Amino acid sequence: MDKIVVEGGNCLTGTVAISGAKNAALPILASALLTDGMCTFTNVPDLQDIRSILLLLESLGATVTSDAHTVAIDATNLAASEAPYDLVRKMRASILVLCPLVARLGHARVSLPGGCAIGARPINLHLKGLERLGATIDIRHGYVEARARRLKGADIYFDTVTVTGTENIMMAAALADGVSVLRNAAREPEVVALADVLVKMGASIQGAGTAVITINGVKELRPTQTEIIPDRIEAGTFMVAAALTGGDVTLTHCQPAHLSAVCDKLQQTGANVEIQGTSLRITAGQAIGSVDVRTQTYPGFPTDMQAQFMVLMSCAEGQSIIKETIFENRFIHVSELRRLGADITVSGDTAVVRGVKSLFGAPVMASDLRASASLVLAGLVAEGVTEINRVYHIDRGYEQIEDKMRQIGASIWREKM
Ligand code: EPZ
Repeated sequence: MDKIVVEGGNCLTGTVAISGAKNAALPILASALLTDGMCTFTNVPDLQDIRSILLLLESLGATVTSDAHTVAIDATNLAASEAPYDLVRKMRASILVLCPLVARLGHARVSLPGGCAIGARPINLHLKGLERLGATIDIRHGYVEARARRLKGADIYFDTVTVTGTENIMMAAALADGVSVLRNAAREPEVVALADVLVKMGASIQGAGTAVITINGVKELRPTQTEIIPDRIEAGTFMVAAALTGGDVTLTHCQPAHLSAVCDKLQQTGANVEIQGTSLRITAGQAIGSVDVRTQTYPGFPTDMQAQFMVLMSCAEGQSIIKETIFENRFIHVSELRRLGADITVSGDTAVVRGVKSLFGAPVMASDLRASASLVLAGLVAEGVTEINRVYHIDRGYEQIEDKMRQIGASIWREKM
C-alpha cells in the first residue's frame, strides 16, 4: 500500500487542469448497457473507480477499450446480468448497472453494496423506484435479484434526495413503456450530465436539474459520443489548497457554474475568486476568516467538500460550525486532523472547529476518499512532514493528486510500500 508524503509550508502558485468528474463518469459509463453498438467517452478520469466499473462492464459481456482518457464500450452482446460481490464490494457505485440491466435484459442480479466508512448507505430507494416501474425484487444471499418483462412508466417519489438513486431510476425509466415522473429527484450536475447523454441516445427527458424529472420511455436507444463534465469536487479541493497555503492558483478545464456554493464560502473566508470562462483563479486572502458551513444537496454546499473545508477552518482565525446533513458518519477525518494539532469537537452531526496557529506533521491514516484528500491538504500547511497511509482511498477519486499538487509548488511525493 503506497503512502503520500507531504512537507508543509509551501505556497501554491500556478495552473492546474481539472480532470473529468468521477461521479459523472460512473453512471454515464453504465448507461452504455442501455444500447447495442459502440459508445465512446472522452475526458474520462484515469481513476481506480473507473477501472473498477469498466471491469464490471466487461464481466457482463461488453467489449471495453480504453486509452488514457478515452473509453469505448460496445454492449451489443451482453452475456451476463450478474454483478458479483468481489467487484461490487470494491466500488458501491456498481449498483448503477442494476437498472440498465433490468431495462435492457429484463433481469439483473447485483450484490448488495455494503455500507462504507461514511455511512450505511442503503439502496432502498433504488429498489423502491424499480418496483414502482414494475420489477419484482428479491433479496437473498446478499444479492438483489430484479426481473421485469418490460418496465412500465410510473410516478416515483424519493423520500430522500439520492444522487445515484435518481440516476439509476432515470436509466430504467428511459426504456420503460409510458411516462415516468421522478419527484424529489437529485439536482446535481452529474444527474444533468447523465440526462444529457440519455437524450443524445434518443431518450425523452425533461426537467433534469430540477426536483421533478419527466421521462417518456422509448423502445430503444442508440449509441453516442460523450465528453465527461469536469470534476467540481477535485476543483473545490484545489481551491481550498490555494486558500490554505496563501497561494494563487488557476484551475483550467473546469465548470465554475457547478461551484457556486464553494466559491461563495471561500470568498466569505477572505479568498478571492475570479471566473474566466472554463478557468477559475483563486487567490488567498490576507487571513483565513472562520465561516460556518452546512452541507446540503445541490446547489447547496456539497458534502464531498466538507472534510476539505474543515481543514481550512482548522487554520482560520476564530471558530466555525460545520454541520453534516447528508451522511451519518462523515467526520472520520476529525480524529486524524486532531493528530495534526487541529482543535475540533464533534457532537452528532455538528463539528465545532477552533482555528489554531499551526498544524504539525505526523503519520495519519486515510479512511475514505474525501477524508484522505483533507489529510493531504492538512499536510500542505502542517509544520514538518505528514505521511498519509492507505492512499488507495485517494486514488479512487483523484487523478495523480501528488503530481498536480507538485506542479503548483507543493513538496509532495508518493512512496511505494
Ligand atoms: C453520490 O453518492 C456520490 N457518489 C457521493 O460521492 C456523494 O457524497 C453523494 O452522492 C451525495 O452527494 C457517486 O455519485 C458515485 P445519495 P450516493 O444516494 O448516490 C441516503 C464521493 O466522495 N439514501 O445521494 O450513494 C444515503 O444514506 C462520493 O465521490 C437512502 O437512504 O449518495 C444518504 O444519507 C461519496 N436510501 C443520502 O440518502 C437510498 O436508497 C444521500 O445519498 C439511497 C440513499
